[in-house]
Amino acid sequence: MMTLATLTAPSAKPLLDWYDRHHRDLPWRVSPPMAKRGITAEPYHVWLSEVMLQQTTVPAVKPYFLNFLARWPTVGDLADAPNEDVMAAWAGLGYYARARNLKKCAEAVAREHGGVFPDTEEGLKALPGIGDYTAAAVAAIAFNRQASVMDGNIERVISRLYAISTPLPAAKPLMKQKVGALTPADRPGDFAQAMMDLGATICTPKRPACALCPFNGSCQALALHDPEHFPVKAAKKAKPVRKGAAFVAVTSDGDILLRRRIETGLLGGMTEVPTTGWTARVDGETSADAAPFAADWEPCGTVVHVFTHFELRLSIWRVAIPSALPSVDGWWEAVTNLHAQALPTVMKKAITSAIPLAFNHSKD
Ligand code: ADE
Repeated sequence: MMTLATLTAPSAKPLLDWYDRHHRDLPWRVSPPMAKRGITAEPYHVWLSEVMLQQTTVPAVKPYFLNFLARWPTVGDLADAPNEDVMAAWAGLGYYARARNLKKCAEAVAREHGGVFPDTEEGLKALPGIGDYTAAAVAAIAFNRQASVMDGNIERVISRLYAISTPLPAAKPLMKQKVGALTPADRPGDFAQAMMDLGATICTPKRPACALCPFNGSCQALALHDPEHFPVKAAKKAKPVRKGAAFVAVTSDGDILLRRRIETGLLGGMTEVPTTGWTARVDGETSADAAPFAADWEPCGTVVHVFTHFELRLSIWRVAIPSALPSVDGWWEAVTNLHAQALPTVMKKAITSAIPLAFNHSKD
């Protein structure tokens, strides 16, 4: 059994050898043999995938990534696309500020850089919506820059490798320094992606498969017999609860009342059924008094949706009316066309609780 005394110094080599054999085939990637011949992935593909992959899993991102590329094959095509189309194509991925920034960034690349992404971290960071993570990932993966890429998977791997006992987020600078020291001058993009794959498949949060890990001869957490202890996290606060009501009005012709949320703030620019504001009130159920028009609203349950900073409990109300009312805010959309709307997941849940088969219509 490995002890702290018998550990070897970590190096990128065993990780890259492991990646050559066990990398995941992902649609935005260039395979290691091609990468070794100096072929890098298309910056547009890398940027798009990295923005989508923030806070969202690989299996969830794949179909969205392929759909975006089919509809907008170049960054110029995305820059020219109507905002509503991009928001509708993003619907379901969550964190909608990413989609608004995606569009702004595509416009900046197309209009100010002739459709060519800057090839340095600094140049990338100057673009709208590109922060430290995306700049480092695109610089490393698309341009072979020796950038220190940090994400949740990489934090876990590095915190175990060096048994970093400082809790997150305070440990981030130290983690970044360790990743920087380990990142090789050649294949920095493969190194970053190998760290991500290792974190996703071997160095998992629970029951990591240390016997299969290319770092098992140099991992301090393994030598301490407690990899799961790392990364150490500061105690989490319980999420506050907010409450509100959502109103699903349907006509006999099968039309539903929709609205567009204001551009700024949570779910800005996305489509919704009429809702009340979401307040900190936690007592009772929000009543039908706040409905967009007076009618015989009937309650049909509560939808719970967890956002980053709060948990939302939405009372759902529904009414069936003979025909569309022209005088209300918003527009009447065919239920059969709901799949083409920029509806975030919480709104899909709200509509489904009032019309269980609302999203079962085929797309053609
Ligand atoms: N998560 C974020 N970026 C990724 C990438 N390039 N490959 C796999 N998982 C990722």
